Amino acid sequence: MVLPLLTKLCHSPGLSSRAIAGITVAVIVGATFFVVCLYFVVYRSKKIEEESFLQGSSDEHFNENFRPPNLEKITESGPLFGVISPRPTGITVDKSVEFSYEELAKATNNFSMENKIGQGGFGLVFYGMLKGERAAIKKMDMQASKEFFAELKVLTHVHHLNLVRLIGYCVEGSLFLVYEYIENGNLGEHLRGSSRNPLSWSTRVQIALDAARGLEYIHEHTVPLYIHRDIKSANILIDKDFRAKVADFGLTKLTEVGSTSFHTRLVGTFGYMPPEYAQYGDVSPKVDVYAFGVVLYELISAKEAIVKTNEVITESKGLVALFEDVLHQSGGAREGLCKVVDPKLGDDYPLDSVCKVAQLAKACTHENPQLRPSMRSIVVALMTLSSSTEDWDIGSFYENQGLVHLMSGR
Ligand SMILES: Nc1ncnc2c1ncn2[C@@H]1O[C@H](COP(=O)(O)OP(=O)(O)OP(=O)(O)O)[C@@H](O)[C@H]1O
Ligand SMILES: [Mg+2]
Repeated sequence: MVLPLLTKLCHSPGLSSRAIAGITVAVIVGATFFVVCLYFVVYRSKKIEEESFLQGSSDEHFNENFRPPNLEKITESGPLFGVISPRPTGITVDKSVEFSYEELAKATNNFSMENKIGQGGFGLVFYGMLKGERAAIKKMDMQASKEFFAELKVLTHVHHLNLVRLIGYCVEGSLFLVYEYIENGNLGEHLRGSSRNPLSWSTRVQIALDAARGLEYIHEHTVPLYIHRDIKSANILIDKDFRAKVADFGLTKLTEVGSTSFHTRLVGTFGYMPPEYAQYGDVSPKVDVYAFGVVLYELISAKEAIVKTNEVITESKGLVALFEDVLHQSGGAREGLCKVVDPKLGDDYPLDSVCKVAQLAKACTHENPQLRPSMRSIVVALMTLSSSTEDWDIGSFYENQGLVHLMSGR
């Protein structure tokens, strides 16, 4: 279109050759400018597309430092599924964590009883191979709400060495949660099961430290922060190297979100619930600290959280009350402890170390939640104990030195 116009101008008698040259240069410059602009616009839009694609796929490379968006407010206020994207543009659903019912049925041999590895309050747990990875698949008869989806998506992003990883979920018919498979069963089985070798004292301290680290992580480093509310030996799983991982974290929150009641539903297990929670439903991280204290008593004695004191008239006592008596025996705490230490340990345990764990458990199960130590302080105390070369200072697990004096027997 430009070329015939120029030819016409060249042949018009009224125009000097200088004017023609000027017009030609102007046309060429204009055309070049237009082409450059066009290229720039196309190139930029392609680049933006590429960037958003990369951002989306990077979500699948999880690591410990990943901090999911704070959904606490969103989940409280209702409609949500689409609101959870941390990106300002559009809604992205991470399909990699969603499994189909067919995939799960195939992985578990159609949920065959031969694949069943456990049963809990919410349903059955099956073993299965999923995409080349060993998995534990929990089948729950539960309605999945939008809040549930949002929360599950967050949970699949929380990673820590001492937390059982939630790989994904499926919501066809029932609700299925897919977890990494932990080879060596739960702590309760190791302490009380007849088919297991007894755990050595140092392994018990290491297991306590691992579980404490997992709890410290959800109390202090995830967004949103979590309170487990169902800490117990059945929810502490043991891997092939006898390292511990906390299971089912976030699950109590999910059941609560799914419930219709506006009041906090009492979720947890008898024998592990602190008085303020059992009586008034008060929830704080100290609920987990209390339950962790009960687990410490279990590690010492291998007894259940609720002990039958009289089979005939079905009289029961909590482990906390039982240890209260033991630690206040007239013969002294050390003598009392010797009587309740797991008989499977024989004489193969350092009484000093057992006393220190009992003192820590006692602090964790203090009636007043504010006087219980934080998980962070517990981690520090157990680290000191497990390295055992350093001096154990009972005051180190209290942030406030004044609290030390509140402990009886000191
Ligand atoms: N990821 C896993 N890997 C291996 N075994 C598992 C896994 N998750 C659960 N299990 C096994 O299944 C059992 C039942 O688990 P589940 O969480 O359903 O019940 P629970 O912990 O006994 O009670 P609750 O329902 O109160 O959590 C566990 O005790 C454990 O032995
Ligand atoms: Mg469990």
